[in-house]
Amino acid sequence: MTELFDVTGKVACVTGASSGLGRSAATFLASKGARVVGIARRAELLEAWRSETTGDTASLVADLSDRSAIESIATEASKPFGAPDILINAAGLNTREPADSVTAEGWDRTLTLNLSVPFFLAQALVGAMKEKGWGRIINFASLQSRRAFPNGISYGASKGGVEQMTRAMAEAWSSHGITSNALAPGFFKTELTGPVFDNPALSRQIAKQTCIGRNGEADDLNGPLLFLCSPASDYVTGQILFVDGGYTAK
Ligand SMILES: NC(=O)c1ccc[n+]([C@@H]2O[C@H](COP(=O)([O-])OP(=O)(O)OC[C@H]3O[C@@H](n4cnc5c(N)ncnc54)[C@H](OP(=O)(O)O)[C@@H]3O)[C@@H](O)[C@H]2O)c1
Repeated sequence: MTELFDVTGKVACVTGASSGLGRSAATFLASKGARVVGIARRAELLEAWRSETTGDTASLVADLSDRSAIESIATEASKPFGAPDILINAAGLNTREPADSVTAEGWDRTLTLNLSVPFFLAQALVGAMKEKGWGRIINFASLQSRRAFPNGISYGASKGGVEQMTRAMAEAWSSHGITSNALAPGFFKTELTGPVFDNPALSRQIAKQTCIGRNGEADDLNGPLLFLCSPASDYVTGQILFVDGGYTAK
């Protein structure tokens, strides 16, 4: 009988494994027996992640925002343990430029890393998933997929796009056994959300807006992530799972 929440031996490619939620996802999946390839630019942080993580891990130092390199990054990511069964698109950035002064450079950088990279990396990896008849794509959406926040126009546009891209990926690839879903975290303390958590009044105010009454802790994402990566979610695709303490329920 299939074990519902088993990812043992699956190969997972995790972008943004040097920091925050990507690092946490990479660590957790390795602890559950997945063989994890972590991708990011900062070699020393990837090595620190590997040395602090139990299980089979490999790292790939790469700048994902170089679109022309995506194919070769996908090839390199398939070398340590074979072609990935699971893709976790966690790398992301938020420039926080006010709408009136958004620069073309900031807009392009955001849309490239947050939206284009998840698509083209998935496109480069789905061929092998199709051959296996099984695959999992997990994108990172956001409260800003559905809500407007101050200084969030490029980030929000990218995350709104991630939500729709997740459904479109599901439409394109689910019949091959490849599901596509997104986690939409509320507020979790990471490098990305430093400006929020550096402001205690603001982070308290956001916590109060949740139903549960606190902001997220990295481990809060583990259960939803395991669900979406494992056979437990075989018939779940094209969905956005908000892990936000009920922020969007109010
Ligand atoms: N934290 C939250 O509350 C929250 C809420 C909703 C959604 N999210 C989403 O969750 C995901 C993870 O965010 P986080 O909070 O964990 O952010 P984070 O701590 O800032 O991590 C971002 C990761 O992206 C990597 N990255 C950035 N630019 C890259 C590039 N050009 N090439 C390769 N890797 C790159 C960074 O690694 P290097 O700098 O080493 O390259 C880092 O590992 C993002 O998609 C974010 O939008 C986060």
